[in-house]
Amino acid sequence: MQLRTIRATQYVTALREGGSLPAIVAADDFGMYVVKFRGAGQGPLALVAELVAGEIGRALGLNVPELVFVEVDAALGRNEPDQEIRELLKASIGLNLALDYLPGSTMFDHAAGDKADAKTASLAVWFDAFVMNVDRTPRNANLLVWHRELYFIDHGAAIYVHHDWESMPQRAESPFRESKNHVLLPWATQLEEADATARRLITADKLAEILEAVPGQWLTRDNDGISAAEKRAVYLDFFTRRLAASAIFVKEAADARHQLV
Ligand SMILES: Nc1ncnc2c1ncn2[C@@H]1O[C@H](COP(=O)(O)OP(=O)(O)OP(=O)(O)O)[C@@H](O)[C@H]1O
Ligand SMILES: [Mg+2]
Repeated sequence: MQLRTIRATQYVTALREGGSLPAIVAADDFGMYVVKFRGAGQGPLALVAELVAGEIGRALGLNVPELVFVEVDAALGRNEPDQEIRELLKASIGLNLALDYLPGSTMFDHAAGDKADAKTASLAVWFDAFVMNVDRTPRNANLLVWHRELYFIDHGAAIYVHHDWESMPQRAESPFRESKNHVLLPWATQLEEADATARRLITADKLAEILEAVPGQWLTRDNDGISAAEKRAVYLDFFTRRLAASAIFVKEAADARHQLV
């Protein structure tokens, strides 16, 4: 697995609703992208989560906009009038992560009549429990509707256990209580089937391949003396154990769904 690398040529607009101040940029391949900046308050581990969780979602067959590396150079922020944005761009010079921008997409809204099919909803509930993503609630769905298909975005807060390396191994086999707030839980009638599909698609090789794509500097930013290779091994161990124990979080989600209906 190899992510493309593009260069940002123009800062188009800030996405103010995003807590990390992501932005739409134009790039040297003439595409438009949503950039997640390395210098944002959430730190580089948010980019690690965005990449790792996003590619796991894609491996499950869910739609995730293409993820690319984006080079930001000093020229990008030079004429930016907003000081907060100028500082963010300055702190993000170098490698960042971006998603293909989906023009005209809208946020999934049940009240507006948006629906999901059982297979997609079940895989989505499985996915978010596996990567521990709490940001898929009706109020903050992070689910775009584009050309009548659902696209999964914003995985920066996933794998939140990686903010504490020491305890990561012990937390792999935990349920995921937040499944009860999942925006697609009402349609997730095929959790057992999703579990079987996911266990077939998410292999140790696939996980290793995804982790290999993570830039080493994003993993070693906190200067704790642990190498990028060691950290990749911690993630691999975490996900391998979590996969083996998927019955725990699948049961949690199924129980939450029974409470719901
Ligand atoms: N690929 C995309 N195509 C179109 N719009 C997008 C895309 N990615 C993000 N957006 C829009 O930008 C907003 C902010 O993006 P995102 O949710 O990823 O940022 P964030 O800073 O992590 O947000 P949050 O406030 O949820 O923490 C989204 O709610 C969505 O409206
Ligand atoms: Mg969001």
